[in-house]
Amino acid sequence: MPSDRDLISDVLVRRLREARYVVALTGAGMSAESGVPTFRDAQEGLWARYSPEQLATPEAFAADPALVWGWYDWRRQLALSVRPHAGHRALVEVARRVPRFALFTQNVDDLHEQAGLAAVVHLHGSLHAPRCGTCGRAADVAALPPAPSREPGRIEPPRCLACGGRLRPGVVWFGEPLPAEALQAAMQAAGECDLFLSVGTSSLVYPAAGLPGVASRAGACVVQVNPAPTALDAVADFNLAGPAGVLLPRLVEAAWGAGPGPPRA
Ligand code: OAD
Repeated sequence: MPSDRDLISDVLVRRLREARYVVALTGAGMSAESGVPTFRDAQEGLWARYSPEQLATPEAFAADPALVWGWYDWRRQLALSVRPHAGHRALVEVARRVPRFALFTQNVDDLHEQAGLAAVVHLHGSLHAPRCGTCGRAADVAALPPAPSREPGRIEPPRCLACGGRLRPGVVWFGEPLPAEALQAAMQAAGECDLFLSVGTSSLVYPAAGLPGVASRAGACVVQVNPAPTALDAVADFNLAGPAGVLLPRLVEAAWGAGPGPPRA
């Protein structure tokens, strides 16, 4: 059995060092080591414990706004309590080292920003950007009442200060389109990069799951970091089988000889 370190081949290291434009796509596994549950992992995944049909669709919110708002507010509070890990910092280091870098995330937390990445594109929205479900006005997140407990509970959504409509979570639900600008930027970046890094995503949810294929068809080297087999295994040129918090720092160290620096204040 090769160790994780053995999986970072010289060829991969050279591809990374020589890359002119690196594009990263992250999913729930990127946040897992910070303490944010993934969606599809068999035991702890959110969709093993909660129903996406009851919580993550516009119809669910219309049917039971308090249930849906309470669940997302619980997740928002959780996201406020977590901190980035060495893998997030390693991606900041990649961004510093290569001529051009872009990061697209399916995650609705702000761990990449906390780690120090300036331009993070959120394909599935953000827990920290609720808005009015009627007029679309952004809500003042600082003014939201704190969630009552560690478990999700029912909370009536606060009202919009402008029109009185119900606030809704700022995430993309199943059945909703991704933010058009973000998706267009991601498609363009995938088509232009020479190294595409997919980290911690099951590669099952489209359109984000289609991005590595776009990159591969355009000639980019596709690198996957994930401890489990995924739909991307057959497409990726390099499959690094292990956790992001371990393998991304090793990749950076192998490429540039130094681990990522300390967390930024
Ligand atoms: P998933 O839960 O589908 O997949 C998480 C992936 O992370 C799995 O392939 C795990 O093997 C992997 N993983 C777990 N721990 C890891 C670690 N420490 N390091 C690296 N990888 C690890 O999450 P996503 O692919 O992000 O959408 O899911 C995509 C979308 O489906 C989400 O954005 C969400 C969900 O339903 C919406 O809510 C609209």
